[in-house]
Amino acid sequence: MSAAEWSWDSWRDATERLLAALDWQELGEIYFHEHGEERWSQIRPQVFELGEVWARALLKRVPQGGRSLYVGAGVAELPVLIAERCIRGRSLRAVNRSTRECDVLMAGLASVGLAGIIKIEPMDGAIAAAYGGYDHLGCVSLFSDPETWPLLSGVAYGRIPPVHLDVEAFVREREQARTLAKAMFGGLKRPGLITTSAEELGWFLEAAAPSGAECEAEDDMIPTAVVGDPIGFVRVR
Ligand SMILES: C[S@@+](CC[C@H](N)C(=O)[O-])C[C@H]1O[C@@H](n2cnc3c(N)ncnc32)[C@H](O)[C@@H]1O
Repeated sequence: MSAAEWSWDSWRDATERLLAALDWQELGEIYFHEHGEERWSQIRPQVFELGEVWARALLKRVPQGGRSLYVGAGVAELPVLIAERCIRGRSLRAVNRSTRECDVLMAGLASVGLAGIIKIEPMDGAIAAAYGGYDHLGCVSLFSDPETWPLLSGVAYGRIPPVHLDVEAFVREREQARTLAKAMFGGLKRPGLITTSAEELGWFLEAAAPSGAECEAEDDMIPTAVVGDPIGFVRVR
């Protein structure tokens, strides 16, 4: 069966096999550092269930064909990538700047025969965006990643008391994040769609403003399996 001819039953079968095949010990070290495998065993059912909710919601909103860019793609995105590629027949570029994370996810995809059609490349989102031609951008819990943006995420989640904030370092991080958001937005065609969390919407609204693009965020939100940030869809015209 070629990609784009899959039923939801085929999707379910492939997604379950993939989730069974992933190296959860290694993913535990990458994501959680301590008791990682145990934490994944608690989250894994949600990865499947919420992945299906996310995938079904996305497939209602993206056209046949077309191309998505996923930046910071990880475990939570896997069910969605499979659905988009194999049920809807869209092409994908999914990137993560962590080579280690990409290697583990690709090893899982290879073990279930999907590595030929779904790739998660070790690449910075700004570089991937520069290729352009995407009608959908998936950016979920990227700007709230505490390892990449310790100060932005600390402020966003209320972990850093104002008295302890290194303001200059915060401003530097914010400028880097603005540059990344601008680059990602620049790779999006219009009309286009962004999937992102409520916390991250502001980066894209700011990036969109100079071009006069209209961004309309839908009210409905979907919880995500790993980070837990609710996500929604933003239509860009
Ligand atoms: C908090 S994790 C979220 C993973 C996944 N999207 C999820 O929702 O479960 C953030 C991910 O973004 C990746 N990342 C951070 N900055 C990036 C960048 N500039 N380009 C690509 N990936 C990036 C990190 O390596 C990390 O895997």
